[in-house]
Amino acid sequence: MATIRPAPDAELFGREAELALLRGAVHDGRGSEGTAILLTGEAGIGKTSLLQAVREMAGDGFRVLSTQGVRGTGSAGYEGLHALLAPVLSHRHNLPSRQRQALEVAFGITDGNPADRLITSIAAFGLLEDVAVLEPVLVLVEDLHWLDEPTAQIVGFLAARVRAARITLVATARADAVYPDWQPHFPEVVALGPLTDEEADELLRRRAPVLGRAERDVVLRQSRGNPLALTELAASPGTLEPTRFVGPSRVAMTRRLEQGFLAEVALLPEAAQRAALVAAAGEGSPYGEVLAAGAELGVGHDDFVVAERAGLLRQESDHYRLRHPLVGSALVESADSKALGEVHAALARATTDRTRAARHRAAAATGPDEAVAGALEEVAVAAARRGARAEAATAWHRAAELSAAPRDRARRLVQAAALAREAGAPALSAELVATALPLVGDEEALVVDLARVNWLLAGTFGKVGLSVPDFLATASGLPRVCDRVQMLVWAAVTCYMGQEPSPKIRRDVAAALAATTTCPGSRESVYKQIGLQLTDPSPHIEDVDAAIAVLTGQADESDRMLLVSLALAAEDAGDLTASEKVWTAGAELSRRTSKLGDEIIFVAGRGSVRVTSSSALERGLTDSEQALRMSDDLGLPVVGALAAANIARARSWRGETELAQQALDASLALSRDSAISRLLASQHWSEGVIAAHEGRFDAAVDALLQTRVDPVIGLWAGGELAEPAIRAQRPEAVESWLATAAGAVEKNGAPHLAMLVDRSRAMLGPAGAARAHFESALRHGERSGAHLEVARTRLYYGEWLRRERRLVEARAHLRAATQVFRSQSALALAERASRELRAAGGVDDRREGPRDATRELTGQELIVVRLAVQGLSNKEIADEIYLSHRTVQAHLHRAFVKLGINRRSQLAAALGDAA
Ligand SMILES: Nc1ncnc2c1ncn2[C@@H]1O[C@H](COP(=O)(O)OP(=O)(O)OP(=O)(O)O)[C@@H](O)[C@H]1O
Ligand SMILES: [Mg+2]
Repeated sequence: MATIRPAPDAELFGREAELALLRGAVHDGRGSEGTAILLTGEAGIGKTSLLQAVREMAGDGFRVLSTQGVRGTGSAGYEGLHALLAPVLSHRHNLPSRQRQALEVAFGITDGNPADRLITSIAAFGLLEDVAVLEPVLVLVEDLHWLDEPTAQIVGFLAARVRAARITLVATARADAVYPDWQPHFPEVVALGPLTDEEADELLRRRAPVLGRAERDVVLRQSRGNPLALTELAASPGTLEPTRFVGPSRVAMTRRLEQGFLAEVALLPEAAQRAALVAAAGEGSPYGEVLAAGAELGVGHDDFVVAERAGLLRQESDHYRLRHPLVGSALVESADSKALGEVHAALARATTDRTRAARHRAAAATGPDEAVAGALEEVAVAAARRGARAEAATAWHRAAELSAAPRDRARRLVQAAALAREAGAPALSAELVATALPLVGDEEALVVDLARVNWLLAGTFGKVGLSVPDFLATASGLPRVCDRVQMLVWAAVTCYMGQEPSPKIRRDVAAALAATTTCPGSRESVYKQIGLQLTDPSPHIEDVDAAIAVLTGQADESDRMLLVSLALAAEDAGDLTASEKVWTAGAELSRRTSKLGDEIIFVAGRGSVRVTSSSALERGLTDSEQALRMSDDLGLPVVGALAAANIARARSWRGETELAQQALDASLALSRDSAISRLLASQHWSEGVIAAHEGRFDAAVDALLQTRVDPVIGLWAGGELAEPAIRAQRPEAVESWLATAAGAVEKNGAPHLAMLVDRSRAMLGPAGAARAHFESALRHGERSGAHLEVARTRLYYGEWLRRERRLVEARAHLRAATQVFRSQSALALAERASRELRAAGGVDDRREGPRDATRELTGQELIVVRLAVQGLSNKEIADEIYLSHRTVQAHLHRAFVKLGINRRSQLAAALGDAA
């Protein structure tokens, strides 16, 4: 046996179409067009072989960078990325500073706050782009499914972007239900199927000319076009058994191949078999460690050589690699667990690397072992420090399993749950919470920590573990006021999010809060105010600035999330200015602490308020666009859907109906599976605005009425109802909103809402009362800061005045309205106001004015040029809005062309008011 091993670069049979595609990609990559291709298929189908072919095609014309996933005990977070970028790491000095730092922390070059994955991803992309300016880059990623999790995520990020640079990325991944599906990240996917009968036959003829016709037919039937099966069977026809490779399912091919390898291993002397097992268990460990571990187990260098000669292993730079990954998995999975434990224990002793040692010790452990659990805990802490959260969660989890004392187990489970949530694995996190729940006992710190994870998780994932009555019960048992009130405010937020349907329990929460005495100005008192605001409609927030100061005082995640509640509570209470302030504070805090996922939640929230408050439509649009773009990168579709709904509304007011409809469609597509009432209401609002602008008044009324699924959004959106309801001759449709809104105004006295109420009354009520209502609406409006809404009130008032033949008065309002609409780029409204103004005998002097050049710019370009006007360099802009510096450069370039300028110094003038 083992006589006709194909060389790794053996001739390929078939695969013409695949090779042609790869050749094309390499050709384009050498030019200027990058691409990313995923080679996927079952084990042994030929992915690695094609990757090697690509490497050869590329020849010398490329800077080749590569990395490889390793089966087994798992590699440390970012290890794969480090291997990929190590040869070009000196380029990091060209990166924007936040991005450079992100890479340095991830690679352990410097200590610091671990950056969000997105920043590290952008940094990796920026680095590659920088290299690609000098020469085309070929990135080869082998076995994506075994890469450490953060690296794999970053590869997915790169795959979606390389088109813009001279980077060709080719990755291989097993298509197997146990691994994540990477296909959606890649612009091109090559799914490798079986070789055709002719190709398989040809392969056998060439590789195993000695096989007779009958034997060949058996091999062909049994290998089902899988090249690995063909090659292996052709090489060892003696191992052929009529039954072994027969079966209905292709999925079982892997198992069968493993069986085949094991049959082959069984023919070796026993010591060589053991050598192969040591190498398999130590895959990824340096060669020296594997040999040392072997020596300890009585396996000499010679035994490794025998295994090598048999073609099971080969040496590759400083470590052993198994002939095929399936050889490794077959060996490890079939090994006797005691023997395997000894191998791992020896590997642990053979290394000085603490992470590797802990992993091997954990693999060797058969039952609870506090020493090993402690070592894994260290691994977890170190991984979290580098920002490798998934890895940290796994280590905490395993440490928990190995903990002897229930207290330690509970503590570690809670940590695992927290990290899993942060790593974006909410389902796992929820499971860990559930496991920890019965173990936490009554240790206060642990109870609070568990409740915190539970609560944070509930915000994005839905109901987990503890319910509101649990929070209430736990709170009553906590001796410290601070813990108690914190627990109660979490309960209040959970009620507010609609996860506690019972009004009685909501009242219980409010009562428990009200019954707690807190010192004015203290953290507890802020918690209490927020909790009360969320469970009881009358105003409770005494001083928003003080509350912000308390919640941003320490970088605690639950406090940061309470800022979201505070912002919503302010919105609820009708104070959009305060709400905007809170969103901004949250965004800044998240940015300072590198919590990008949170940052976009805050930016999206601010965008929504800015659009609603209509004080800064343009900036609200910018916020929303930023949030939409980043939500995609961060995998937060609900945030993206909310942002897109806001974009739709803002665009519609700007008269960009087509873009508005596109944004609404995007929002609907993103929110397909979620039934969050706030999101639904926002979408209906946009739908209503678009319909009204298109003159579909019935549809507008219907859509706006549906915004009531969320009471807060429904309140603001209802201000929009009057006009379409009148046009559709359905004035009664406004009544219910009017009553609710008037009631709310009575409680909170919010001027913006008061204006909407009075304006609606003016439009709907008897003509005799209209003037008084309009005047009152304007008086409220003056205090509201809602410029656009004030202008709309003037527009409606002006139209009414013109019908009443009060032309002079009408003209004054219409002129003022026109100006505001123009300054906010609400061109559809500006046109309408201008038409009215002229009909009232007025002159609109800016009607024929120059077209606003900034309207040609995309949202992203506008953001970039605005920052450039403020004097930021490309790198500073890149850090500010999370783009690579070369992407910033490209945006600026396109903006210059559109604005007809060629120097940065001309930007301010070209932008004018829009700067
Ligand atoms: N088209 C082909 N013609 C001839 N031999 C092939 C062909 N494709 C693959 N082989 C051979 O089959 C074996 C398995 O191929 P390869 O290692 O590329 O599979 P893989 O898809 O990477 O498997 P895994 O998922 O296990 O990594 C190798 O020995 C390789 O030389
Ligand atoms: Mg492979």
